[in-house]
Amino acid sequence: MTNEELIRRAEEMKARAYIPYSNFPVGAALLCADGTVFTGCNVENGAYSMCICAERTALVKAVSEGRLQFQKIAISTDTAEPAVPCGACRQMLIEFSPDMEVLCADKDGNYATYRLRDMLAPAFALKK
Ligand code: THU
Repeated sequence: MTNEELIRRAEEMKARAYIPYSNFPVGAALLCADGTVFTGCNVENGAYSMCICAERTALVKAVSEGRLQFQKIAISTDTAEPAVPCGACRQMLIEFSPDMEVLCADKDGNYATYRLRDMLAPAFALKK
C-alpha cells in the first residue's frame, strides 16, 4: 500500500464525518503491521467533550479487532495546509507503535510525513 493509496482511504472517510458542531471533517486510515487497513472519521456529540477524533476512531476499530502494531496512519482534512493529530491521538497511538509514520494531508492531497515518536517527546508511558 503506497502513501497515496492510504491517503485516498483517509480522504474517502471525510464524507462519513459526523460534524454538526464544527463542520471540520477529518478522515483517517491506519495501516496495520499485517497490511490490513482500518479507517475512521470524527464523530461529534451535543455533549461536546464526548467528540472523538478520526484517528482514535480508526485506532479503536483496529485494536478491538486484534491489531496492536501499526506501520502508518494517514490523516486528511479540508485545510490549505496539512493538519497534525491532536495530543490525545498522539498519546493513544504511541502506546502501540512509537516508530509509526504519520502522513498529514491537506485538501489537495499534498502531505507532510512525521515519525510519531518525534511528535510526542518525551511521551508518557505507564511503567513502575
Ligand atoms: N479532530 C480530529 O478528528 N482529529 C484531530 O487530530 C484533531 C481534531 C476533530 C475533532 C472535532 O470533531 C473537529 O476535528 C474539530 O476539532
